[in-house]
Amino acid sequence: MTVRHRRKAWAALLLAPGALVAASRAHAPASAAPAELAWSVPDPTSLPDGEARRQILRGEELVRHTAALIGPQASDPARRYAGNNLDCQSCHIDGGTRKFGLPLVGAYAAYPVYRARSGKIDTIVERINDCLMRSLNGSPLPAGSADLDAIVAYLQFLSSGRPHGSRTEGQGAGHIAELPRAADPSRGKAVFAAQCAACHGRNGAGQRAADRPGYVVPPLWGADSFNDGAGMARLASAANFIHANMPDGTTWERPVLSVEDAWDVAAYVEAHPRPHKAGVEHDFPDRRGKPVDAPYGPYADGFSAHQHKYGPFAPIRAAAQP
Ligand code: HEC
Ligand code: HEC
Repeated sequence: MTVRHRRKAWAALLLAPGALVAASRAHAPASAAPAELAWSVPDPTSLPDGEARRQILRGEELVRHTAALIGPQASDPARRYAGNNLDCQSCHIDGGTRKFGLPLVGAYAAYPVYRARSGKIDTIVERINDCLMRSLNGSPLPAGSADLDAIVAYLQFLSSGRPHGSRTEGQGAGHIAELPRAADPSRGKAVFAAQCAACHGRNGAGQRAADRPGYVVPPLWGADSFNDGAGMARLASAANFIHANMPDGTTWERPVLSVEDAWDVAAYVEAHPRPHKAGVEHDFPDRRGKPVDAPYGPYADGFSAHQHKYGPFAPIRAAAQP
């Protein structure tokens, strides 16, 4: 952080009375979590020639051009594992190297880790295959396959120098303030028409690439989109991702959409149909650990499915307090 930024942050704290509490909460998770390591992206092309470099670059290719290599129209039918034509980098922007663009930098270092969705300790391989089965609506890459090993090698490389259990700044897509009301798809429809439709299309179907399987702009709903069990199918994940990264080219430092518009346009996206993941009712075996915005039941509380999908979420959280 530069001195200039630091000054700005302190000025904001002095101006806003309750801001100190909010700021320290935002930066310090409840448990005594270790400090976040600084953001940096290693460059695989700086590696010496050899098998390790080849494997890491192959993994990067798989993250960037997933549809062409392992999508439903991949040239090798034996490698068609993804069920839609998204690329990993449709969401993990720029090969997973964009701060607050759901980066894959530092992800490898977090695993194995307990995850509430599975109710067990998951390995990095299980986490990758979760995205294959949900975000890419497909089937898992088999253990020991060259494609899986290459993705793991690329992710391990992106965590170079980051010890197991460490956290890296810039992970995820940020945490915008929640709305005190339900997010509103009809308000979001107007935001979509003004800010998104030019690229993603009025029908949300995106734009196919002319020269290869996959998209130039990925679809946001419909048969070729992520399924209802995917992280992006949760309103908060989508709203934060959109606020920090969309319209494409936006960065977390200079968001284009207001916080309100981000929630409402995310609601408009999530209001559309998408593939269903069989068995999602078995996710979060301990339902008290289920995120408030999981768009599918069963829930530990009596709030409606509509409120879980669109908010407001504060009342749900308050009711869950022991
Ligand atoms: C439709 C969007 C989407 C696509 C496509 C997608 N992912 Fe994800 N992925 C997510 C979201 C959302 C998360 C959750 C991020 C978080 O919890 O901060 C995630 C999380 C992950 C994580 C865990 C990150 C961490 O820090 O714990 C890994 C690893 C991962 N994805 C790998 C992949 C790979 C490899 C592919 C391609 C085969 C892929 N993803 C495709 C949306 C997507
Ligand atoms: C300039 C073109 C452009 C505009 C405008 C744009 N997007 Fe995107 N969007 C992209 C591209 C390209 C990607 C793939 C990721 C990347 O390369 O940055 C993407 C990815 C996404 C994704 C994740 C991938 C998926 O398929 O679900 C979501 C969600 C999304 N955009 C929503 C929006 C919303 C909502 C708006 C309007 C606020 C918007 N985008 C505006 C080009 C655009």
